[in-house]
Amino acid sequence: MMNKANIRPAWVVILLMLLCLLAFTLIKLSGTSSPVNNNNQTEPETPSKIDLSKFKNAAENEKCFSCHGQSKYSYENPDSEKTVTKKMYTELVKNRDLYYVSNHREFKCTDCHSEDYETFPHAGNLRMEAIANCIDCHGGDEKYAMFEFEKIDTAFLASVHSLKHNEDFTCWMCHDAHEYKINARSNENLKETITYDNMICLNCHGDLQNYQLLTNKAQPNILSKHEWLPNQASHFTNVRCIECHARNEDTLVVAHLVVSKKDAVRKCESCHSKNSILYASLYKYQVSEKIQKEGVIKGLLMGDSTSIGPDKSNTLNIISLIIFGLTILVIIIHAALRIKK
Ligand code: HEC
Ligand code: HEC
Ligand code: HEC
Ligand code: HEC
Ligand code: HEC
Ligand code: HEC
Ligand code: HEC
Repeated sequence: MMNKANIRPAWVVILLMLLCLLAFTLIKLSGTSSPVNNNNQTEPETPSKIDLSKFKNAAENEKCFSCHGQSKYSYENPDSEKTVTKKMYTELVKNRDLYYVSNHREFKCTDCHSEDYETFPHAGNLRMEAIANCIDCHGGDEKYAMFEFEKIDTAFLASVHSLKHNEDFTCWMCHDAHEYKINARSNENLKETITYDNMICLNCHGDLQNYQLLTNKAQPNILSKHEWLPNQASHFTNVRCIECHARNEDTLVVAHLVVSKKDAVRKCESCHSKNSILYASLYKYQVSEKIQKEGVIKGLLMGDSTSIGPDKSNTLNIISLIIFGLTILVIIIHAALRIKK
């Protein structure tokens, strides 16, 4: 009897901690969820964070988003005069939140797509519509000179992707028309840029369906192909694929000449040395006080492999979560033992 009375407060503490953990997880999940991933949702997603009134074309775009903005859509069947609700194909669902922070957020859908899409059902021949390429709009435009579109185009045309797949492989394959936004040039968070850029490659090299749209060849397993690289996970989260796979050019912020695998960087000293290639690529726009404060530059100069790399706050967060989880586990075991007694 005495024992049971003693245990109660411990259980209250455990329950509270578990609730905290649950709440934290839920907050995290809701922050990152997107309509695309929410296949089982039933209500149309209303834009959560974006103030649509700031965008002059938002009302116009809602006509498309009303069907393409979530996992289901409805239309009036003129024959039965009934409203029919159907499932939208996942790959045709576009995310408002991502659209309105992307580079082309000021665009109407019909700036790139035919205005005939305003009618539903869409005419069959619309599937054959040709969409303008980057260079069609940005080529020779003074306003975008700093991006050097022509130079990127030349580099891209010499890349393995373009050489092997010609015009089937377009700029749009890496730059999702509805989501692409500049990171490397302007994002102060290096980790975000690394993840963003690597996801572009992994969208095919980690996704069989997308990969096989281009080729019937078996997809090489990206993890086993890099087994020779120690601390693979650490490298994949701290350097970009293009650091090893694309030839760097002086003025380009982002290297676009993806070379064949035999020319990929394999030497450790390329990065783990005083003359790290990362100065000319990854850290190009980060050579600010920020990085010096974080000790990255110092680490590189010392050729110290363990101190090279951007901030570790993410890792720290995860570690503290694990410690938190372990603490709870210890408490539970402890309490369980006491009940047994
Ligand atoms: C009433 C719902 C509805 C509306 C409104 C609508 N769409 Fe669609 N759209 C669909 C469905 C369903 C499909 C898939 C079937 C098809 O291709 O017709 C589709 C397909 C598409 C495709 C892919 C065609 C392909 O290559 O297979 C594009 C692009 C598209 N819509 C653009 C638009 C644009 C732009 C607008 C706004 C001007 C718009 N849609 C408005 C329902 C809609
Ligand atoms: C900057 C140009 C651009 C804008 C703006 C744009 N799209 Fe697209 N859209 C594209 C391109 C490029 C493709 C890919 C065509 C391909 O690969 O066949 C595409 C494809 C699509 C598809 C077919 C599915 C897919 O991803 O291949 C749908 C649906 C679609 N767009 C809807 C929209 C809607 C809705 C809007 C407005 C919210 C919009 N688009 C705005 C360029 C654009
Ligand atoms: C239909 C014409 C058109 C096409 C095609 C197009 N763009 Fe754009 N792009 C524009 C316009 C216009 C703007 C300026 C939008 C604004 O000021 O809000 C822009 C903005 C941008 C910006 C942002 C510039 C800044 O300073 O914020 C980048 C980067 C960009 N485009 C890259 C691309 C890439 C890469 C492609 C191809 C994958 C592409 N664009 C295709 C017309 C186009
Ligand atoms: C194999 C994938 C891939 C292809 C293909 C590709 N890009 Fe990129 N591009 C990237 C990546 C990754 C970035 C970095 C995005 C970021 O973090 O800002 C980028 C960035 C850019 C930028 C911004 C650079 C800056 O100075 O801020 C422009 C402009 C651009 N690409 C244009 C193009 C054009 C034009 C084409 C086609 C000729 C093209 N890209 C094809 C992967 C690709
Ligand atoms: C530290 C440098 C480095 C990094 C980082 C790196 N790779 Fe590699 N990768 C290589 C080297 C070297 C090879 C050649 C391996 C071989 O030939 O056995 C290779 C091979 C490949 C191949 C060819 C596989 C085959 O055999 O057909 C692909 C595809 C590839 N990498 C994609 C990626 C992607 C995507 C990323 C980012 C997630 C990445 N790599 C990150 C160095 C790197
Ligand atoms: C749209 C899909 C797609 C995207 C995005 C993509 N790749 Fe590829 N990549 C392919 C395909 C398909 C092949 C196989 C080409 C072949 O052999 O036919 C390939 C081949 C390669 C190879 C091997 C070349 C060789 O020598 O065999 C490397 C390395 C590579 N990609 C790196 C990258 C990097 C780095 C990125 C991101 C900047 C990237 N890829 C983005 C589809 C993609
Ligand atoms: C493209 C540049 C690049 C290449 C090539 C490269 N590394 Fe790294 N490596 C890094 C970066 C950046 C980090 C930072 C990771 C961090 O700070 O945790 C790292 C981390 C490491 C770590 C782990 C340090 C830690 O604390 O997690 C080891 C060990 C390592 N590299 C060894 C190697 C070896 C051995 C090679 C050659 C086979 C190699 N690296 C090739 C860039 C590179």
